[in-house]
Amino acid sequence: MIARTHAAAIKGLPAAEDIQLAVADPNAAMLAAFTKQFPHAQTFADAATMLAEPAAENDIVVIATPPFTHYELACAALRTGRHVLCEKPLAMDRAEARAMLALAREQQRLLGCCSVRYFGWSPFEETRRLLREEILGHIYHVRFTFLEQRNRPGIEYQPETHWFLDQAKCGGGTLMDRAPYEFSLLNRLFQPLRIDVLNAWLSDPVTALSLPDSVVNDVEQHAGATLRYHLQDGSNFIMSYERASGTHSTERADIEISGLNGAIRWDWPSLRARKFLAHTYDRHGQAETKTISFATSYQGHVPFLEKPLHYFYQRVHGQDSPAVVNEQAVFNFSCVRAIYDCANTQQPQTVAWGE
Ligand SMILES: NC(=O)c1ccc[n+]([C@@H]2O[C@H](COP(=O)([O-])OP(=O)(O)OC[C@H]3O[C@@H](n4cnc5c(N)ncnc54)[C@H](O)[C@@H]3O)[C@@H](O)[C@H]2O)c1
Repeated sequence: MIARTHAAAIKGLPAAEDIQLAVADPNAAMLAAFTKQFPHAQTFADAATMLAEPAAENDIVVIATPPFTHYELACAALRTGRHVLCEKPLAMDRAEARAMLALAREQQRLLGCCSVRYFGWSPFEETRRLLREEILGHIYHVRFTFLEQRNRPGIEYQPETHWFLDQAKCGGGTLMDRAPYEFSLLNRLFQPLRIDVLNAWLSDPVTALSLPDSVVNDVEQHAGATLRYHLQDGSNFIMSYERASGTHSTERADIEISGLNGAIRWDWPSLRARKFLAHTYDRHGQAETKTISFATSYQGHVPFLEKPLHYFYQRVHGQDSPAVVNEQAVFNFSCVRAIYDCANTQQPQTVAWGE
């Protein structure tokens, strides 16, 4: 599915006509469907054969396979001296992610993660500006709530893709699938040096399902955590994080950032998100709210789904880019994984920059 989006994104890159596209997929039907859409692509029945071709300087390998294959494929690609842009979630666990980064460093190649599609969301960019100007004063609490009642990967979303429901193949449910985007935005906003996951829970609310008997369905669809964000200026705040792709709770998708001098609230990027930001502060003892509306959903010119490849390409070519690479990619992933580790062990977890 997503491999085709990345392949289509090539056409927007500089000198796109000179870029050679190669694809490997052991599933012959999938490979045929891919080449129907991209007839000029060179095809391979497995990744090892494709990677055995001589590497050109700045070759990029995009890993667009189920999560349980990311580590092995990313390492194989890095060993051939190619840069790797890996789909989210980066890996299955923190040890895999660390090992991928160590190998990327050894090979002096970049390891990127595709979790950047929501960068540029107008209320998010305005929030970055307000935080840079310290308009809110000391931040003491962030409430992130994104609850969808029926958008479960492998059930309502891409119902034919059953690996989304099998923990051994995907590492987890809604958090593994959706939270990588969220922690990429949250961490770009606050640039923490360390995050503690103080407590966490995972749940899978019961609904009628008509899955084939052979399908393993053992992942969470509703989860939450309390995290402490430690910032570069020595301050810290608590974040209440809640995410669901399947729940009986009321749907909502917003973030509220509370500071001593004001609070801001906006809709998290989603299909129904409104393009506004509400800034509430005190005026002569009364609460006053200023609402900023945005003409466009996103700032910048790179189309939504083309961002992962475009940003990574820019970084590979030494240009300024918001690409999520190396330590940042591992840090963001570790935040997601630490929520599972905390929920499963009932022990607080710490994620530290450069650990
Ligand atoms: N579908 C989406 O909307 C979407 C969006 C963003 C990110 N992602 C992420 O992208 C990744 C792939 O998701 P998808 O929905 O495209 O999955 P998919 O099941 O549609 O496609 C995965 C493909 O990988 C192939 N594959 C499996 N093992 C392989 C191997 N060892 N070597 C080469 N090919 C192999 C499969 O045959 C299949 O064609 C996942 O990590 C997912 O979380 C998906």
